[in-house]
Amino acid sequence: MDNPPDHAAPAAGGEIPPRPDAMQVGACPFTRFVRTRRSWLDQMSERAYGMLMGEVRTPFTRLFMPNEPSLVRRVLVDDRAAFPKDRNYWSLLDPLTGESILNSDGAAWERQRRMIDPAFEQARLKLVFPIMADAAQGMLGRVAAAAAGDGRLIVDAETTHITADIILRALISLPMGDDEARKLYDDFHIYTRSLPAQTTLALSRVPRWLGWPLLFGRGRRAARRIRHRLEAHVRPRYAAHRAGTPGPEQDILAGLLDAVDPADGSRFTLSEVVDHLAMLFLAGHETSAAALAWAVHLIATHPEAQERMVAEIAAEVGDGPIGFADIKRLRYVMAVFRETLRLYPPVGSLPRAAAAATEMRGKTIAPGCPVLVSPWLIQRHRRLWDRPDHFDPGRFLAGGEAEDKTNAYLPFGMGPRVCIGMAFALQEAVLLLALLVRRFRIAPEPGHRPYPVGRLTIRTRDPLPVRVAERGPLPAPAAAHSP
Ligand code: HEM
Repeated sequence: MDNPPDHAAPAAGGEIPPRPDAMQVGACPFTRFVRTRRSWLDQMSERAYGMLMGEVRTPFTRLFMPNEPSLVRRVLVDDRAAFPKDRNYWSLLDPLTGESILNSDGAAWERQRRMIDPAFEQARLKLVFPIMADAAQGMLGRVAAAAAGDGRLIVDAETTHITADIILRALISLPMGDDEARKLYDDFHIYTRSLPAQTTLALSRVPRWLGWPLLFGRGRRAARRIRHRLEAHVRPRYAAHRAGTPGPEQDILAGLLDAVDPADGSRFTLSEVVDHLAMLFLAGHETSAAALAWAVHLIATHPEAQERMVAEIAAEVGDGPIGFADIKRLRYVMAVFRETLRLYPPVGSLPRAAAAATEMRGKTIAPGCPVLVSPWLIQRHRRLWDRPDHFDPGRFLAGGEAEDKTNAYLPFGMGPRVCIGMAFALQEAVLLLALLVRRFRIAPEPGHRPYPVGRLTIRTRDPLPVRVAERGPLPAPAAAHSP
């Protein structure tokens, strides 16, 4: 059934990006256990990348992974009421996000989505753009300091810093230099560190009465502190807004305060606003930070792609400020980021649960069983993509392979629950990558090859170093070839 593994083949135009070692068929349960604890990606055998419907048996449940595009569409779009969000998994976010749009379902979700959508419309994104551009100056300063020093930059630390900075400024106009922002950031990391282990337990349906939730009290306490801090920040603005004297801020909080449900005229309560800010902080930077770190690694290891980005930037924007309208002209930079999201989708699986007994490709799925749609498997699937493990941004240019991959490319999910922050994330990524490669030449750290692990998002196992050096003047636009 499988094509031969192609990750061993020689790379065309650069090395084959890192992928996890495949689990050996017939591995003993102890090996499986150790590998799964390390990262859920390590559970995947080579066969998993060629299966149209996967199944994993655990002592407490059977877990299904539909990879065939028509099944993906069935779960996320056509028959989505039969596959609601898996409460066992998504309730792990309750301590931080309450019942927010990310983990709610049914009528509650529909109301939330109606109300939040306007805060992410194009017009708002335009308002957020200068906030991103301003924060990006901080990133350039930090990378310049690394270049002026020993040239070594820990990429994932930087992408986490800049995306947290951007999201806090975009949400509540709070720059990361602020002590308050730093405390939010630190507590956030305590909380998220506790999630991967809880995820494995929840998806395997290990009963909560065995007491495992007690092991994660530190994370829950951090979540409570984050909510208190956000509430202290929101309360005065909430009161002023409801009293008819809103402040001048143009941030997403302003959008949430303005939000009115068109169906019944209701507004968010204070606690709902806090739920959503906490959720947007979580959803809005961990994902982008993971993807950007992989993008920088891919650019470093594919110098021809890096030079093509620089040529495009020189031709389309030159060395002046990159504006809102420039983003859509940087098509190759966008293609590099989209290809990064194919190879390293930050959200590697979308957990749903079967609402009632059902059947898929001859397998009977009992009510309550987890059904995981996995962008990680689908986007590297042997039958769905040509040379699936290779880095080839050309797939995402006009006429490229990705044009007919509607149900096989879903880094932002699909259907009505598609990521609300997709345009925000793409705008942010193109801006940051363009600013970075325009000014710095990025090279891999000799002897270092990152290893992908599935944690809260798909990250590198160890901190990811690269080498950075100032590039000097851009090539003259006439000499630059615009792709
Ligand atoms: C590269 C960056 C990002 C990736 C890969 C990503 C990925 C995703 C995915 C896969 C989903 C669907 C989850 C599911 O169906 O179970 C999702 C939902 C969501 N994302 Fe993102 N996201 C990114 C950035 C952002 C940003 C920047 C924000 C906000 C500022 C955001 C806010 C949300 C929200 C609110 C939802 C829930 C939507 C709903 O259920 O109606 N995301 N995201």
